[in-house]
Amino acid sequence: MKIHPTVWLAPLVALMFQCQSNPYQQGEILYANFCANCHGVDGQGLQGLIPPLAAADYLQEKRERLACIIRYGLQDTIEVNGRTYGQVMTGIPELSETEIANIINYIHHAWGNDFGYVPFDEVRRSLTGCEKNGR
Ligand code: HEC
Repeated sequence: MKIHPTVWLAPLVALMFQCQSNPYQQGEILYANFCANCHGVDGQGLQGLIPPLAAADYLQEKRERLACIIRYGLQDTIEVNGRTYGQVMTGIPELSETEIANIINYIHHAWGNDFGYVPFDEVRRSLTGCEKNGR
């Protein structure tokens, strides 16, 4: 009996793609396009004006607010690594839930950050929560 090539080829191709793709690659590209102009390519922020994301205690502690900040922005007085920030971050409504999840997972693991993986479901739950509260 002859086995049709698609039977063994398909899983092989799938495996190849899996090995090649960097899990945070889409997030990295999105970060470069939507965040880096303010927060910097290295996530260092802009002294006194824009808070850092690299080694940022705020980013680590407010995990559940992150998706809402990306979609709806932030206009508050916040403290990040002991410094106060009060500029406005405008929201980026055109990003999909998946794109937001990819950005979060990129910044959680970039520049030496090790803030854990945030599953897509959690991003969706956060967004539903902030939409209910009007933000
Ligand atoms: C127009 C400039 C600008 C852009 C673009 C921008 N931010 Fe911000 N971001 C800010 C400012 C300013 C604050 C502080 C807001 C405040 O004080 O209320 C902030 C705050 C934050 C915070 C909370 C504080 C911290 O440092 O942990 C996070 C997280 C964040 N931004 C992530 C992002 C991500 C991710 C993107 C891209 C999707 C992004 N920002 C795009 C300016 C920007």
